Amino acid sequence: MIPEDFLKNIAASHGVSELEWDVLRLSIDGKSIKAIAQELAINEGTVRKRLSDIYKKFHIDGRGPVKLAKLQQLLVNQYQGLSNEQVSSNLITNIDSSVGDKLPLNASQTQDWGEAPEVSVFYGRKAELETTTQWILENHCRLIALLGMGGIGKTNLAVKLAKEIQDKFEFIIWRSLDNQPSPQEFVTDAIAFLSNHQETELPADINEKISLLIKYLRQHRCLLILDAFESVLRSGDRFGRYEKEHEDYGIVLKRLGETEHQSCLLLCSQEKPREISLLENPKGLVKSLKVEGLKVEDAAQILQEQGLTAKEHWKSLIDYAKGNPFALKIVGATIKDLFNGNVAEFTKHNTWVFGDFRTILDEQWNRLSKLEKQMMQCLATETKAVSLSKLKKEIPQISTSELIETLASLKRRALIDTSHQNKDESQTSYYLEYLIKKYVKKYHLSHDE
Ligand SMILES: Nc1ncnc2c1ncn2[C@@H]1O[C@H](COP(=O)(O)OP(=O)(O)OP(=O)(O)O)[C@@H](O)[C@H]1O
Ligand SMILES: [Mg+2]
Repeated sequence: MIPEDFLKNIAASHGVSELEWDVLRLSIDGKSIKAIAQELAINEGTVRKRLSDIYKKFHIDGRGPVKLAKLQQLLVNQYQGLSNEQVSSNLITNIDSSVGDKLPLNASQTQDWGEAPEVSVFYGRKAELETTTQWILENHCRLIALLGMGGIGKTNLAVKLAKEIQDKFEFIIWRSLDNQPSPQEFVTDAIAFLSNHQETELPADINEKISLLIKYLRQHRCLLILDAFESVLRSGDRFGRYEKEHEDYGIVLKRLGETEHQSCLLLCSQEKPREISLLENPKGLVKSLKVEGLKVEDAAQILQEQGLTAKEHWKSLIDYAKGNPFALKIVGATIKDLFNGNVAEFTKHNTWVFGDFRTILDEQWNRLSKLEKQMMQCLATETKAVSLSKLKKEIPQISTSELIETLASLKRRALIDTSHQNKDESQTSYYLEYLIKKYVKKYHLSHDE
């Protein structure tokens, strides 16, 4: 085995952070993403993100499982080179078994679940499952987006849905865009899988490639799932547009949404891609579902599972977390740890935003434009929902149209909410959800409360 000290030095020399180091150490130990997430009490998406950053720091490319093997080999080589010692065959065995761990569980030729997480515990979401199942199986929707803030449960809902309806499809492909594969890579990869690797000479042009993909989506009933779609959208853009090198994902969505075929592309995204806004229609074949927090009774099961006490305080805890299962898991774990599981003790203290929920919010924050940040900071100082006219007075330097665009963009990112005092749209007021407000106040305002 490579001694930990040695590993830590190499990691530090490649700029690996403390948070990334934990993920690196456990991956090298052969732990699966799920096991690492559990051990570090963080989201699986975060583990993947940190791993992806680690790979970048070591200049490792390729696909998921292969990357880990490459990294392990590189570390072994460096260790051998520097210490000139024989590395025990143990490590090599470890490399093989850990790679095996991460290969898709279902190795059939018709299903490739990629990096889809295994969903063993899943509460509620009956209505969401019914609606989306109907859209897919009865209405034959071609393009569906599950939208909502980080940690709200989009990925888990997509897995549950796809597993429930899998036997209605000839092919299933799950891809996460977390590592930002290019549109060309995604389409090529999908064609290779759907053609059973028979299509070897593909056209270079993306439009022609998409036409070929559509040919397969017509021939076979396929379910394609693209998770973490926000990864290819441009940070700080108000219109759900793409990073330059990922613009062709827009063509993929447009063509798959508009052209006739018998398959379905399901997206999970924190932000709404503009093609969805342009193509969706209540009676059409392109739809989106805003994934909200869990119902109180379903969210309570997360707290129950964690063995928390003082049930009379659970509802307010769930309300504060807006039923966000990820936030509840983090908060629950902390209450267990610091307050012996007593929710009442926890609510006496005012530390709502911490742990890995912060990482999620940091990620969202970094995506915002300067104006959006300014707006969030302004809303964070308010105690009540604020009307448009009041906001105009608060931020006089920006025009009304910019103000409206910024608010719409923040709403799409699920960072602000609206309340309507009466039916007149001009009376709409805007506010930050509790957790988000706490976060902005704590980390992005110089004058903390
Ligand atoms: N219905 C549910 N029942 C129990 N736990 C859930 C449920 N939905 C999600 N969770 C848990 O909440 C966490 C976040 O869920 P998930 O990863 O699906 O969120 P997400 O919306 O995809 O977040 P992100 O935008 O960061 O990718 C996970 O740990 C998951 O296990
Ligand atoms: Mg997700």
